[in-house]
Amino acid sequence: MNRLDYVIVLAAGEGTRMKSTTPKVLHSIAGRTLLGHVLSAVEDLAAKEVRVVVGAGREAVQEHLSQIAPHAQIIFQEKRGGTGHAAQLALADVNSSGTVLILAGDTPLLTGSSLLQLLAAHNEGGFAATVLTAELPDPTGYGRIIRGENEDLLRIVEEKDATEIEREIEEINSGVYVFDLAKLLEMIGKLVNSNAQGELYLTDVIELLRKNGDRVLPVLTPDAAEILGVNDRVQLAECAALMRDQINDQWMRAGVTMIDPTTTWVDASVEIASDAVIYPGTALSGATTVGSRATIGPRTTLIDCTVGEGASVQESYCIGASIQSHAHVGPYSFLRPGANLHPHSRVGAFVEMKNSQLGEGSKVPHLSYVGDATIGVGTNIGAGTIFANYDGEAKHATTVGDHARVGSNSVLVAPVTIGDGAYTAASSAITEDVPAGAMGVGRAKQRNVLGWVLRKRLGSKSADAAQSSAERGKPTS
Ligand code: UD1
Ligand code: CA
Repeated sequence: MNRLDYVIVLAAGEGTRMKSTTPKVLHSIAGRTLLGHVLSAVEDLAAKEVRVVVGAGREAVQEHLSQIAPHAQIIFQEKRGGTGHAAQLALADVNSSGTVLILAGDTPLLTGSSLLQLLAAHNEGGFAATVLTAELPDPTGYGRIIRGENEDLLRIVEEKDATEIEREIEEINSGVYVFDLAKLLEMIGKLVNSNAQGELYLTDVIELLRKNGDRVLPVLTPDAAEILGVNDRVQLAECAALMRDQINDQWMRAGVTMIDPTTTWVDASVEIASDAVIYPGTALSGATTVGSRATIGPRTTLIDCTVGEGASVQESYCIGASIQSHAHVGPYSFLRPGANLHPHSRVGAFVEMKNSQLGEGSKVPHLSYVGDATIGVGTNIGAGTIFANYDGEAKHATTVGDHARVGSNSVLVAPVTIGDGAYTAASSAITEDVPAGAMGVGRAKQRNVLGWVLRKRLGSKSADAAQSSAERGKPTS
């Protein structure tokens, strides 16, 4: 039984190398903050209490925590005193016995299963401390693991305090530990800041425990990528690419086709059904779900969208839209929140739609703006139709019935209703309701001014063409 009493997440650091006004742990990859990833991995441990040490950008971090982890306890570290100092603050009022896992808030690739394994190894052997380590070809910047003659862990030395020879060591401290709480409490007060950074190092607890005769277990991770930390934007992009690959591998193994996984970006929160096909250059974000046999892309962004079975979206940008089964969007369209395409409906090229219902089998094939509209079933909206929903002060609604035919280049001035089976003449400005079955004509009647070109443009190519047409006996009017 892997009982865990406390998790402590250290997240008070400034993240100076990010060069950002956003606190480091609030930067995101795969649609989730670094802190969010860590807290999500920690969830699997079912600890009795999670404590997060915050400092830099405290208010923003606190606000974020209230949304993603409302049960987490927030500990405030006013001034950076080191990881040992941060842990001291977090442990100030804990129970005197139990188990605690401590980790940093900037390691987004750590998985819950690795943390569980670490906890299991710790509990199995009854150790005072268990440290997750990794072998990195380039260990620069990390604390090094110093092992004794029988491979046991003696101490951890920070790079800034290490000798030449110690710096050669490729095994590093991941910054993830499990401690026996009583043992940790016994030692944490003994930390001193006599080191290169003048800080209290949590890592020094290991040497203190060893000198006290306590048992400490180093656990070498089989997947060194998992412990990578984010300190700057280069590492942020590296971690994002690694996570992209993991997420894509998972979906491909679950039966999703990805034509080019390296240009396909799927947030951790997205769901995709098997036999969906994702084309290159596509980003699926937020609460997006994609149904079976749907095809998405190329070059499509879906944010918080629902895509039904067999639907397709090409070269389009959609946010907060619902694209139901076998509906089609694109290429080059923009669906905004509340756009709801019922089954088998179609939005074609260069169409913008928001807060509108497009009924089953209805089509908006070309070059239209559709806002605040309810369109029935089997209706066709002609090319270049504008739903004029804004009078300069307020938005108004338009209703178009079933099997209606709106002529090309119509402007439907809301509030207005086009009845079932009604038509509008091309290029109409429709300002009044069109009853069911009627043809609404809202434009000036055409008149032809005969002979105008020969009178007004004599000698032009147009006039010559008109002249010879007349000579060949073609009608000129
Ligand atoms: C730390 C470890 C190092 C390890 C590395 C792994 C120490 C002394 N060193 O070094 O052995 O290889 O992590 O990534 O622990 N923090 C606070 N308050 C503080 C200082 C730090 O909350 O006063 C937080 C930071 O926000 C960060 C974490 O603790 O999330 C680690 O601090 P950081 O400064 O990044 O330590 P490293 O130098 O990376
Ligand atoms: Ca770090």
